[in-house]
Amino acid sequence: MKIGIVGGTGKIGEGMAMRLSRIYDVLVGSREIEKAQDTCESCLRYADDNGLSCTVRGLTNQEVVDGADVIILAIPYKHLDSTIAGLHGLEGKIVISPINPMEKHDFFEYIPPTEGSAALHLKKILPESTRLCVAFNNIAGNRWRDIDGELEYSVAVCGDDEESKLIVMDMIDRISLLKSYDAGPLTMSPVIEGLTALVNNIAKCNHMKDVGVRFV
Ligand SMILES: NC(=O)c1ccc[n+]([C@@H]2O[C@H](COP(=O)([O-])OP(=O)(O)OC[C@H]3O[C@@H](n4cnc5c(N)ncnc54)[C@H](OP(=O)(O)O)[C@@H]3O)[C@@H](O)[C@H]2O)c1
Repeated sequence: MKIGIVGGTGKIGEGMAMRLSRIYDVLVGSREIEKAQDTCESCLRYADDNGLSCTVRGLTNQEVVDGADVIILAIPYKHLDSTIAGLHGLEGKIVISPINPMEKHDFFEYIPPTEGSAALHLKKILPESTRLCVAFNNIAGNRWRDIDGELEYSVAVCGDDEESKLIVMDMIDRISLLKSYDAGPLTMSPVIEGLTALVNNIAKCNHMKDVGVRFV
């Protein structure tokens, strides 16, 4: 299975690429192909230094959409509309949204769009046949990038297409110590996205770093 990361050069994208490329063919996307290739070189260098194998290619975001079976949209919410408007060929693809529309002033605040969440907005602007799932919203970028550390977290996954949700959950369960949980339909996305503001405020108020979530 080919996993594409649109915005694969960013804070979560790069760490995702490093970890996922040990397991899957990973296509790292960027608006600038050179940036994507730099990220791939980091992945390959790390794998080489540690005697690991990794399969990763740096491409434009459009080439990622063209080549991947599963596409992670690792871009900030404020750039979501322009990014989707500039891409074609998302029909029938599995798309994962880790996107949290959030602002930080004194504290972190979840500020969803009028549809109720980034994912519900995304559903409106994606082609009808795109199979949208929400996942990875509550794992800090620093944890993805701490490549020698295990990711001992739960991942809530929601979506309206049961088959694609199972594919995404299976993919998650192969990454480090992550454990996926079916969180129901896409209407659960405001809760999953908003949870990130909660864990970030818990981290801030309790002098903790990169707090995550585990369901036990
Ligand atoms: N950071 C976290 O800890 C974390 C945790 C959980 C979920 N998330 C969510 O994951 C998503 C990505 O977060 P992030 O922190 O990784 O974001 P980021 O590092 O700020 O940005 C990710 C990528 O977005 C692309 N980008 C920047 N400006 C753009 C524009 N104007 N148009 C299109 N693409 C643009 C850039 O890629 P190129 O310049 O290469 O195109 C950049 O590397 C967000 O929605 C966030 O809410 C983040």
